Amino acid sequence: MRIHEIKDSVFYCGVNDRTTEKFENLWPLPYGVSYNSYIVKGSEKIALIDTVEAGNENLFFKGIRSIIGGRKIDYLVINHMEPDHSGGIPAILKEYPEIKIIGNRQTKIMLAGFYSVPDSCFIEIKDNETISLGDRNLRFIMTPMVHWPETMMTYVEEIKLLFSGDAFGCFGALNGGVTDTEMDTSWYTDEIYRYYSNIVGKYGKFVQSALNKISKSGIEIDYICSTHGPVWHERLKEVVGIYDRLSRYEGEDGVTIVYGSMYGNTKEIAELIADRLSERGVRIIKIHDSSKSDLSYMISDAFRYKGLIVGSPTYSMHLFPPVEEFMVSMETREIKNKSLAFFGSYTWSSVTTDKFKEYSQKMNMECVGCMEMKHSPNDEAYKNARELADKVYDAMKK
Ligand code: FEO
Repeated sequence: MRIHEIKDSVFYCGVNDRTTEKFENLWPLPYGVSYNSYIVKGSEKIALIDTVEAGNENLFFKGIRSIIGGRKIDYLVINHMEPDHSGGIPAILKEYPEIKIIGNRQTKIMLAGFYSVPDSCFIEIKDNETISLGDRNLRFIMTPMVHWPETMMTYVEEIKLLFSGDAFGCFGALNGGVTDTEMDTSWYTDEIYRYYSNIVGKYGKFVQSALNKISKSGIEIDYICSTHGPVWHERLKEVVGIYDRLSRYEGEDGVTIVYGSMYGNTKEIAELIADRLSERGVRIIKIHDSSKSDLSYMISDAFRYKGLIVGSPTYSMHLFPPVEEFMVSMETREIKNKSLAFFGSYTWSSVTTDKFKEYSQKMNMECVGCMEMKHSPNDEAYKNARELADKVYDAMKK
């Protein structure tokens, strides 16, 4: 087994999961996912940073032993308690019974709740405290709600390396390499957007707080080691920039159209809108049939692009169910700053305009256009669809 030394005294000991179909049993993993764990070998003491999901202990221990052999681990730092990172804690406690677990007050409560870990194993630290490993010092930075209340980051001062928890992570297993300097990471970019928007998207203001805190602290960062995906060195600034933009809900040029359609009439309006947007010069238009596209990808594109247009037929006096699910996911993630418009259709009685407007009010986001069509597209519907596309285009260009 190759030993991956990321930077003097910091090693990778995570695992790849290529079997699980859906992360959190919700979000598709076509390229797998990695559960990243790291070892910091100080001149006097050894620290393990986070663990891996339960069921991967065999490979996890092989990785650890390849790095430290039979030496004991002094500290286990828990940056995040979600079970994809904490699932290996019981096995670690069994193998290294004298290990001390480092975390904050919230970590302690969750450790007891999830794994019945006694307080005697635990060292509670506060924001900005440090622990010495000899020639390496670990500084702990509290970053609550990126993604859970206990989340924190750990900084290795001497080598300017940050263990960032879920922040700056992405879906996609590691295919041989670990650091972005040793492999092509271009294909991970879409998975950064999808990971952020699906998993962390609701917590934009907390991501902003964490970014501001790090920026104000003046610490320099050369390496970001997150809990999922590659270690960022070469692309560090770019990846931080993506998280910064997404957490401010700042979109790129482009429009996402999400629609539901039973018999093709509402779909025809979606196509007309896309056609007009293209005519106006919009080059990126992502169209999702909500019955076919996975919610994960619709959320990702909605976060990524400036324009968002959603269409639905009236279905049993509600929105079409997959469209409703999408709207709930937008409301849950408190999405903002979109050039937002809606279109709807009905046969004898309509609710789409009212339902969509309720969502735009709940999301506190202006709706720049809304149209409704009875039965099937006619000349008036064609005209309204073109006008709706124009309104979204004008709003995006403001
Ligand atoms: Fe990868 Fe929030 O856990």
